[in-house]
Amino acid sequence: MGRAFLYVILGGGVAAGYAALEFTKRGISHGELCIISEEPVPPYERPALSKGFLLPEAPARLPSFHTCVGANEERLTPKWYKEHGIELVLGSRVKSVDVRRKTLLTGSGETISYKVLIIATGARALKLEEFGVKGSDSENVCYLRDLADANRLVNLMESSSGGNAVVIGGGYIGMECAASLVINRMSVTMVFPEEHCMARLFTPKIASFYEEFYKSKGVKFVKGTILSSFDIDSNGKVTAVNLRDGSSLPADTVVVGIGIRPNTSLFEGQLTLEKGGIKVNGKMQSSNSSVYAVGDVATFPVKVFGESRRLEHVDSARKSARHAVGAIMEQNQAGEFDYLPFFYSRVFTLSWQFYGDNAGDVVHFGDFSGGTFGAYWVRNGHLVGSFLEGGTKEEYEAIAKATRLKPAVEDLAELERQGLGFAVTV
Ligand code: FDA
Ligand code: NAD
Repeated sequence: MGRAFLYVILGGGVAAGYAALEFTKRGISHGELCIISEEPVPPYERPALSKGFLLPEAPARLPSFHTCVGANEERLTPKWYKEHGIELVLGSRVKSVDVRRKTLLTGSGETISYKVLIIATGARALKLEEFGVKGSDSENVCYLRDLADANRLVNLMESSSGGNAVVIGGGYIGMECAASLVINRMSVTMVFPEEHCMARLFTPKIASFYEEFYKSKGVKFVKGTILSSFDIDSNGKVTAVNLRDGSSLPADTVVVGIGIRPNTSLFEGQLTLEKGGIKVNGKMQSSNSSVYAVGDVATFPVKVFGESRRLEHVDSARKSARHAVGAIMEQNQAGEFDYLPFFYSRVFTLSWQFYGDNAGDVVHFGDFSGGTFGAYWVRNGHLVGSFLEGGTKEEYEAIAKATRLKPAVEDLAELERQGLGFAVTV
């Protein structure tokens, strides 16, 4: 016999925290909700791990960045969960789930049953071994997905201050960690296979601005190649990173950010999967009507894309979680999730936001020499995506609003001439 709850959230990350807040806002009784997480701490704002957490001066530390501080909502500390009668089962990995019987089995052997399950298992970092390279377990090689990883990186930066850092991957983790490593006085080289950084989102022109900025901070770029092996000394420490192009980079610290895989394995063969995630409808409900999925693990219908997609960003984790709870509590009277994708990053003194889809023709605008600049994406005669670096709060709100309205764009040259003014006056 185990414990039984009306609602169980599997996973204790960003989505779990926002779902918990929404449950309490809509009114649940003590003892109805349980959150089970492998992590030893209650949900926190994961984006802090590659930003404030890595600062050499006055770094962010828990409890300051528990959810839902990132959306200026209540900060859900352990005390908050207690006061709201929410059961936290922490440091506990769920080993198996039986969606037919509505039960979960934890690592400690406890069976927990539910009436409604919300899957919020997020994702795991891809390992170099999955690309045929050994050495991930070396003491100075670091991934960045959770608090334990972030603590390791902080220790590594302290012990190798002034040394060489090699960053593998030119995506979000690569860019944000490279900036943090520089701020921690390390000599940084970034290595990635594409022609430019942030290839999933940036145009070559946008990427060129950030790469030049990074170079001005001392970062070196090795593009169009990947690592083939590490040199590892007798203490198990990586001393050099060997690349496919035959060159070798000395390394005191290696940070790897080569993408993620959603944590779906507990549900393979039990729920319908799509595009690597758990397929859900506009209510975030999976192929089993008692099971919902939210955050990085969910593949949901996104109107602006005209198809279902899985997103890997904090805003969609927060909003999909709240939407799922609304749908559950309103017993499916709730509307469809109508989400405008929103991505952002902050590095050094720079800050950008992106809304919508980066598909179709691109029109750049603004001052690419260090001022405010951006880009619009136009598909089938309509604005579908907007990017802005260095904007004000009002300007970011304007591009978000314009992108959601999807206005007709007949003349790309005119759009370029109007630049940011187009979004502000839509
Ligand atoms: P999340 O990964 O947050 O949580 C999943 C939880 O499930 C974890 O607690 C995990 O331990 C648990 N879990 C998994 N399997 C389990 C099991 N079997 N049993 C028990 N528990 C289990 N996005 C953005 O828009 N802007 C940004 O600046 C950043 N910055 C950023 C920095 C870093 C370092 C990372 C790693 C990620 C970001 N992101 C981001 C992405 C953003 O953090 C991400 O999209 C959300 O955390 C996703 O929230 P979820 O709740 O879906 O997963
Ligand atoms: P990513 O998908 O952003 O980038 C992966 C990068 O790995 C690619 O750009 C590529 O350069 C590189 N790569 C792929 N295969 C490689 C290989 N074999 N060898 C070397 N490089 C290779 O993923 P990430 O940077 O690892 O980020 C992980 C997750 O964290 C993502 O979901 C991301 O959205 C999230 N995140 C988001 C933010 C943000 O939104 N500001 C910040 C940090 C992390």
